[in-house]
Amino acid sequence: MNDSPFFRPLRLRSVELRNRFVMAPMTRTRSPGGVPTREVADYYARRAAAEVGLIVTEGTVVDRPGSANHPDIPHFHGPALKGWKTVVDAVHGAGGRLAPQLWHVGNVPPQDRSTKLSAPLESPETMSLADVQSTVQAFGRAAASAKELGFDCVEIHGAHGYLIDQFFWEKSNRREDAYGGSTIAQRSRFAREVVAAVRRAVGPDMAVILRLSQWKQQDFTAKLARTPKEMESWLVPLAEAGVDAFHCSQRRYWEPEFEGSDLNFAGWAKKLTGRATITVGSVGLSGDMISAFKGENSAPQGLEELARRMDRGDFDLVAVGRALLQDPQWVLKIRDGRTGELQVFTAESLGRYY
Ligand SMILES: Cc1cc2nc3c(=O)[nH]c(=O)nc-3n(C[C@H](O)[C@H](O)[C@H](O)COP(=O)(O)O)c2cc1C
Repeated sequence: MNDSPFFRPLRLRSVELRNRFVMAPMTRTRSPGGVPTREVADYYARRAAAEVGLIVTEGTVVDRPGSANHPDIPHFHGPALKGWKTVVDAVHGAGGRLAPQLWHVGNVPPQDRSTKLSAPLESPETMSLADVQSTVQAFGRAAASAKELGFDCVEIHGAHGYLIDQFFWEKSNRREDAYGGSTIAQRSRFAREVVAAVRRAVGPDMAVILRLSQWKQQDFTAKLARTPKEMESWLVPLAEAGVDAFHCSQRRYWEPEFEGSDLNFAGWAKKLTGRATITVGSVGLSGDMISAFKGENSAPQGLEELARRMDRGDFDLVAVGRALLQDPQWVLKIRDGRTGELQVFTAESLGRYY
């Protein structure tokens, strides 16, 4: 498949990616006390050595009380940064490229309700103006650290019902100040300030990726933008604030975003903003992420439809989650056409760390 659209290099600002496959960010809670270990470095380096074009790390939290809802989620501040340096060096040593996914969980409670947290969770409803400003600054500081540590680009987690998305969503943002409002454009102010702070921190050379989703873990059918026009009012100001690439999260990449066109979320984001986009959602697998969390397995699936859309110019990059969690060699097998060797994704692999 060497002449396939997936194996052409791509430049994002100063970084050259060797192909179009991105490892999707996946929380693994393997960083005791928030500090990534050697095991974490090996886990990512294994994928880098097997030619994943860009690795986006699991969500790693900014320096705010209550930004994490599990004690083993990696921090992106303090002593954890030394751990991240080991990860950067390991991935670079294996020929890979790496972006941290900067995260704040907002008020999403721990999965295990008995988990002891060091600070109360925070949300658009509880945050004062000073809290909002300090959170924007925390994202900026994290981005500066990413640059200092030698990461290749940086991703902001604005999806799936966590803090930034809680500001976007009318059901979780009922603020009556400048960070709330009746339109998605108004409720995007917090995100725009985060993007601008990150851009200021990394300068003009480092690519800034913003991950967004219409769906929320609180409501899979939620829509922030119901029409292309609404989507334009949401995304264009974010692009102008400094986004180089939109990472458009869907559960199934082939699902159209709006009636009357087969374009998916990434397709529309690219059409409306002209920025690079990343698609994601059940690439190479028959079942979606939620089925995996329910304990179901997924069989390998062909990439013909994905290639058709990519050839048409709908998106620039393709993120792969569970297939790469199951099998670090996935990209190499696709490259070499070894489809018979592609593995079934088993729900047990959510608990494996390899
Ligand atoms: C175990 C697991 C952890 C995840 N953690 C994150 C995360 O930290 N940040 C994020 O943006 N998405 C997270 N996701 C969503 C994935 O990045 C991806 O969008 C989703 O799995 C769909 O891709 P796939 O069908 O290829 O698995 C996670 C998914 C899984 C399976």
